[in-house]
Amino acid sequence: MPPMNRINRHTIRRHFSRAASAYDEAAVLQRAVAAHLDERLDLVTLRPERVLDVGAGTGILTEKMLSRYPRAEVVAVDLSEPMLRHARGKLAGRAGWWARLRGHCPAHLVVADAHQLPFGDGSFDLIVSNLMLQWCDDLDAVFTELRRLLRPEGLLLFTSFGPDTLKELRAAWAQVDDREHVNTFIDMHDVGDALIRAGFGQPVMDVEHFTLTYAEPMGVLKDLKAIGATYSAVDGRGLTGKGRLQAMLKAYERFRQPDGRVPATYEVVHGHAWAAPEVFKGPDRARDGVYEMTLEDFQRQVRKS
Ligand SMILES: C[S@@+](CC[C@H](N)C(=O)[O-])C[C@H]1O[C@@H](n2cnc3c(N)ncnc32)[C@H](O)[C@@H]1O
Repeated sequence: MPPMNRINRHTIRRHFSRAASAYDEAAVLQRAVAAHLDERLDLVTLRPERVLDVGAGTGILTEKMLSRYPRAEVVAVDLSEPMLRHARGKLAGRAGWWARLRGHCPAHLVVADAHQLPFGDGSFDLIVSNLMLQWCDDLDAVFTELRRLLRPEGLLLFTSFGPDTLKELRAAWAQVDDREHVNTFIDMHDVGDALIRAGFGQPVMDVEHFTLTYAEPMGVLKDLKAIGATYSAVDGRGLTGKGRLQAMLKAYERFRQPDGRVPATYEVVHGHAWAAPEVFKGPDRARDGVYEMTLEDFQRQVRKS
């Protein structure tokens, strides 16, 4: 696996905690991706009793799990307590007035790190995670943990960012200096490898691209800051002097489109894998153990399961 980000988890927690109150308004992409992840569950016959949302943030996907599986016990985990506090306010609104009055939240909210989760083996039938994995510096540890938590035949369904994400920002910074200013995002084949190493079966990946456009390059940075997605290098040093920032913004201009706007590309990796004892060995299995398939193939596969 190529080197992952050496990310400082305290910094991640601080950035997301600071962003918690403004997150929902800025998280346009996260909301769209959560909706796509949720739609995929239309195709799965699984009737989970216990569902875990890892890196749940303000509960955008948790809320969808509560609607989709009203009888299930839903647990939402996040590194950031303020993000979960925000989720509590939102999710409690779903409960009846008496429950609301008593501060009852229909999901269990747990502050914990995805690398080490406080639940017993085989506790969940379904684990979902939307745009959290790219913040983890040890994917093997996280997948091993999620595999441990799934009951046999349970399903892991997730999204993460692939290497093309923020390619314009990365290229603009590269014109200015040779330091890392943007997270390194892992290729879906490497994610598939990590799933297999963790003991998952039938990993399936595909990507979808989103392009957000802005009036000015500064808009890209402002959006990232608003959702707490500021680059969190392990050394925690400030990376952006004013002069260098201006130079980067100027370099970004070369991406300006004929319609006058500047783009920010996001490559979203969708993945799912089963806690099956056997790894899929079908004839079309691609390199690195990842089976790439269309949405139609995916429908056929999940209908069979
Ligand atoms: C981009 S937000 C996505 C939140 C939510 N899933 C959504 O779709 O809006 C990423 C979340 O992952 C959380 N996170 C990052 N690293 C984590 C870790 N190691 N363990 C648990 N949560 C983590 C952050 O605190 C943040 O709330």
